[in-house]
Amino acid sequence: MEVIVQPDYEQMSKVAAQIVVEILNAKPNAVLGMATGSTPLGLYQELVRLHREGQLDFSRVTTFNLDEYVGLSTSHPQSYHYFMREQFFQHVNIPPQNINIPSGTTSNYPAFCEWYEQRIAECGGIDLQILGIGSDGHIAFNEPTSSLSSRTRLKTLSKQTIDDNARFFERREDVPVYAITMGVGTILDARKLVLVANGEAKARAIAQAVEGPVTSMVTASAIQLHRSAIVIVDEEAASELTMRDYYDFIYAAKPSAPKS
Ligand code: PGA
Repeated sequence: MEVIVQPDYEQMSKVAAQIVVEILNAKPNAVLGMATGSTPLGLYQELVRLHREGQLDFSRVTTFNLDEYVGLSTSHPQSYHYFMREQFFQHVNIPPQNINIPSGTTSNYPAFCEWYEQRIAECGGIDLQILGIGSDGHIAFNEPTSSLSSRTRLKTLSKQTIDDNARFFERREDVPVYAITMGVGTILDARKLVLVANGEAKARAIAQAVEGPVTSMVTASAIQLHRSAIVIVDEEAASELTMRDYYDFIYAAKPSAPKS
């Protein structure tokens, strides 16, 4: 795992965007795994800026989002369909038919989840999965005790996640109780993972995910099992990491490392 500590949110977002740029330069028809939440907003803004400047073309890209709330229509302002459209998709040139987001309003969740997994496989798998982390250590909506080999399925949100996300809804009771989410196993199948986190509220979860034991109590810790995972954090989110000096040392030494 590579851990990159950046001075602030803006730099964290730019470094993450650069990884997307590298992937698209190498593979213009890459399959990208998208995340929602406040953390990746800066990353999306940077990608939109690069696209507007003519430096990034998404015309052959396919995307798969990690999750969606159950019960919210695609036009609900708190749905992840709406978030992605507003924050990213309407500003870039991904063909609409290449955009995949779990349905929060399907009539048959198990069938939809199976279809979603099949669709990812048919598209050749995910090249780069973008991830945030919950303060309870979740990735996507894989709450504590989710199986580390779980696949896309319906999930009941934890109290912590409902509390964290209540800020986006008028009342706490309005936060959906269920979500449809890619599983930890689905995420680990992606060829590369980039996890972004900023702020003090994420410091404990980041320390547990990066340096703690691999445990379903902190599903983000499963990224330790992935052979190409990059964690990009700001100073505050890095504040509880004990190996901080080593991460900085590795990052500084990277340009001079033997390439072959
Ligand atoms: P946030 O959510 O980016 O809004 O903090 C992250 C997550 O829950 O995965």
